[in-house]
Amino acid sequence: MTDTTASTARAQIGVTGLAVMGSNIARNFARHGHTVALHNRSVAKTDALIAEHGDEGDFVRTETVDEFVAALQRPRRVLIMVKAGDATDAVIEELAAAMEPGDIIIDGGNALYTDTIRREASLRERGLHFVGAGISGGEEGALNGPSIMPGGPKESYESLGPLLESVAAVVDGTPCCTHIGPDGAGHFVKMVHNGIEYADMQLIGEAYHLFRDALGFDAAQIAAVFGEWNTGDLESYLIEITAEVLSQVDAKTGQPLVDVIVDAAEQKGTGRWTVKSALDLGVPVTGIAEAVFARALSGSRAQREAAKGLASGVLGDKPTDADRFTEDIRQALYASKIVAYAQGFDQIRAGSVEYGWDLTPGDMATIWRGGCIIRARFLNRIKEAYDTNPDLTSLIVEPYFKDAIETAIDSWRRVVVTATQLGIPVPAFSSSLSYYDGLRAERLPAALTQGQRDFFGAHTYERTDRPGKFHTLWSGDRSEVDA
Ligand code: 6PG
Repeated sequence: MTDTTASTARAQIGVTGLAVMGSNIARNFARHGHTVALHNRSVAKTDALIAEHGDEGDFVRTETVDEFVAALQRPRRVLIMVKAGDATDAVIEELAAAMEPGDIIIDGGNALYTDTIRREASLRERGLHFVGAGISGGEEGALNGPSIMPGGPKESYESLGPLLESVAAVVDGTPCCTHIGPDGAGHFVKMVHNGIEYADMQLIGEAYHLFRDALGFDAAQIAAVFGEWNTGDLESYLIEITAEVLSQVDAKTGQPLVDVIVDAAEQKGTGRWTVKSALDLGVPVTGIAEAVFARALSGSRAQREAAKGLASGVLGDKPTDADRFTEDIRQALYASKIVAYAQGFDQIRAGSVEYGWDLTPGDMATIWRGGCIIRARFLNRIKEAYDTNPDLTSLIVEPYFKDAIETAIDSWRRVVVTATQLGIPVPAFSSSLSYYDGLRAERLPAALTQGQRDFFGAHTYERTDRPGKFHTLWSGDRSEVDA
């Protein structure tokens, strides 16, 4: 039933910005019995939604922001689903002018968490609650159950939480939605989710590359492998859709679609934000960073054109035992995925300390088990790890993951060595292995780095045999002094 006039304040939620994501989440709310006030800059989009899906629930059509706000029950709750950046600021300003203290504005876009921190503080001064909510799962997730990562004031979650949880994905009876933490925490966690997503996709891409160029598999054969892998430890949305994409045949040419897609990956920017934030926080997210750089490299068309035909050196022999190498790749993928997620969770912990958010890593594992792009069986293991030890120093040292890497390590090394010998780029597989080797190393070359820094910059160093900071008089008698 749709009351196409905004007569009385009867909507529990308002959605403004009715592109596909906005329309789908509005429909999701309506399908769950909520009355949904609709608003879009162009009313045509509002009318199209009502014309096509008005029978799915109770929508209230509005044309102006004032009408939109007037259609909402108090405390008013408005979900903004517009492009991140200036557009969001403009919509927030327009809404804030029409709303009253105690009302709630939710930004469901991929906003930069530092913008959310700024917006939350500014709106709090006007008595308004601002909730930056990461919403993951794409168009399908928005309609049928996303993973929702709302930050903002805890008190606003009291009224908002049940509404959001009612439309989120559900795993083992638990909604994939929880209050993440104050101000920008929700968008920060969504940003890290996206960074992990980039790493996951890059690792899958490297596995695909090895199957294609080291084993000579065609797309259909590789699709079958990923389909098989999706029944085991690697079961996940990204593995599932990889099999789908690789199975797709291009209608125009009859070739596998993947073979006619230009090999230049784009990115809207959330993965880049993750790496920038990690650099500031001092967290080595090597897998995520290599994934972001790999996308940039793939898009460097002029350089790649100029570099075509550069010397490959003497290449090694291709693997002869396809089954064994396939298992090696599976193991390397799983181990590298453990590293990427471990690094992502390290960044969440570092952000929590930096911004005083008091985040609970296990919460993220719990709500990422369904609805979001990185949803995977694997996340149950991460949830168990943090439920057992919330202060886990790294996922990599947790017994289950420690054992999984111990099982995978020989395969992992064989894959990185073979790829290198065949001239196949595996930046995420190899950087993840080096990260693992770096973490477990007895002595790192950083001792020499400290010596060099002290030589040219008198930046001092610590000693292994006694506490304190020291400096060598490099340009004098080279004696050592306390710094
Ligand atoms: C999600 C996705 C989504 C993604 C966009 C842009 O969680 O649903 O992460 O938000 O960011 O599809 O993807 P790119 O960053 O790869 O451009």
